[in-house]
Amino acid sequence: MLVIGNWKMNKTVAEARVFIKELLRERFDKKCSVGIVPSFVALHIAGELLEGTPIGFGAQNCYFEDQGAFTGEVSPLMLKDLGCKWCLVGHSERRHIFGETDELVRRKAVALLRHEIRPIVCVGETLEQRNSGKAISILSAQLSRALESLDLGNEEFVLAYEPVWAIGTGMVAKPPQIEEAHNFIIEHCKRMHPKANFRVLYGGSVTPENCKEIAVNGVGGFLVGGASLSVEKFSSIIRFCI
Ligand code: 13P
Repeated sequence: MLVIGNWKMNKTVAEARVFIKELLRERFDKKCSVGIVPSFVALHIAGELLEGTPIGFGAQNCYFEDQGAFTGEVSPLMLKDLGCKWCLVGHSERRHIFGETDELVRRKAVALLRHEIRPIVCVGETLEQRNSGKAISILSAQLSRALESLDLGNEEFVLAYEPVWAIGTGMVAKPPQIEEAHNFIIEHCKRMHPKANFRVLYGGSVTPENCKEIAVNGVGGFLVGGASLSVEKFSSIIRFCI
């Protein structure tokens, strides 16, 4: 299992330092890979404190160019320089608040792969789409566009299924819905890239209390939002995964 904490726009550098030091005091088995994706400003301190530890870190977003006149953006080259292992792309908040399209997701994934940073491509349907029976066709469209002509080789490629209606709402998808979505994502990606291996994380209101129920067939780990802001809650989720 892989457990990633997405801090979103939370924690100052000082708060990040305290959190990471506390997390490092916890003892985890190596069977569970663990990472955090803090805001850009805390990446440097994350790199300093996590160097040589089993806990990885990455970014929540990037642009697809290496450098240039792109005010306010951060490039994969800069993320590589900081030691980032992963970078989220296409998180539903990026898609819905900032208008990120599947084409932009694809271009970011290409750029990250070029710099050997592992993209974590996030997909998921809205409640309206689910209620009108379109969940699987939405996932299919998002994946087809975002993963088109990517050069994945035979490395493990990580995706996250995050139903938009389950993010930050306390509403969790039901285990059969999760299983159906995860198995669909894996099969669809395999059809597109037969040589690659895929891991699909589940995200959306994951807590220490519900993670056991959510860990159904096809779930390769969790992308944790709110609960990853607390060392205690995040550690409990990690412990369950070991
Ligand atoms: P919550 O766990 O707060 O619902 O957030 C999920 C998420 O968006 C992780 O990327």
